[in-house]
Amino acid sequence: MVETDRPQPLGVSAAVVSNQAGVFDDWQAVLDRHRAHPFRKPIADFNRLAFEQAAEHWSRQGGELILDSGCGVGQSTRLLAARFPQACVIGVDRSADRLTRQLGPVPSNACLIRADLVDFWRLAKAAGWQLQQHFLLYPNPSPKKKDFKLRWHGHPVFPDLLALGGRLECRSNWRIYCEEMALALNYLGFSPQVSALEVTEPLTPFERKYQLSGHELWQLEVNLNAPNPA
Ligand SMILES: C[S@@+](CC[C@H](N)C(=O)[O-])C[C@H]1O[C@@H](n2cnc3c(N)ncnc32)[C@H](O)[C@@H]1O
Repeated sequence: MVETDRPQPLGVSAAVVSNQAGVFDDWQAVLDRHRAHPFRKPIADFNRLAFEQAAEHWSRQGGELILDSGCGVGQSTRLLAARFPQACVIGVDRSADRLTRQLGPVPSNACLIRADLVDFWRLAKAAGWQLQQHFLLYPNPSPKKKDFKLRWHGHPVFPDLLALGGRLECRSNWRIYCEEMALALNYLGFSPQVSALEVTEPLTPFERKYQLSGHELWQLEVNLNAPNPA
């Protein structure tokens, strides 16, 4: 298996290897379980503090909210802030090492927050946050079959992520990741689109690395504010 979360020199990233030939067999049972039993893991104090910091930034900044979940070094957070100057862009990652790498100043309409998304998303939902856009750029693929529950759509926090609404965009170099997420979203009443991604200007370091390594890149897009009629 290739662990794609580990920094590697540019241009030498191996393709994702998995013991799954297609989508995870039991995805539906996992989703049903998560819908029937809301996720109740206690929220860590440091994530509450981090969420307050993010909420303060938003109340100072105003504007529509864009979340860059798993932002790594925050390159995409900076680029999105420049692309959407009227919005407030919040990049969240649990890795202090990544967040503190010196990529230059963070635009005033953006901030980088160290937190675990599993808690951050639940706090955001409890606070009634509604996003304009939500980016999940190259989440860890966790490609071993036994690790399905570590992929965001297989994690019990997935319903909380969806409750934040907005236009969700997930990118991956593992097609199955996007296809599984699309199946899960369809099952839950949304209309996702999965397409091949042609990158001209990479948005993130992982995107750049995968592009230089010749990987096919995939993109899932869905409007979470527009569920299908029941
Ligand atoms: C493969 S990297 C991609 C980083 C960046 N989006 C990019 O494309 O360069 C996945 C990122 O997700 C972060 N991450 C994974 N699980 C997380 C969690 N539960 N909470 C916060 N960040 C998480 C990791 O720290 C890592 O920076």
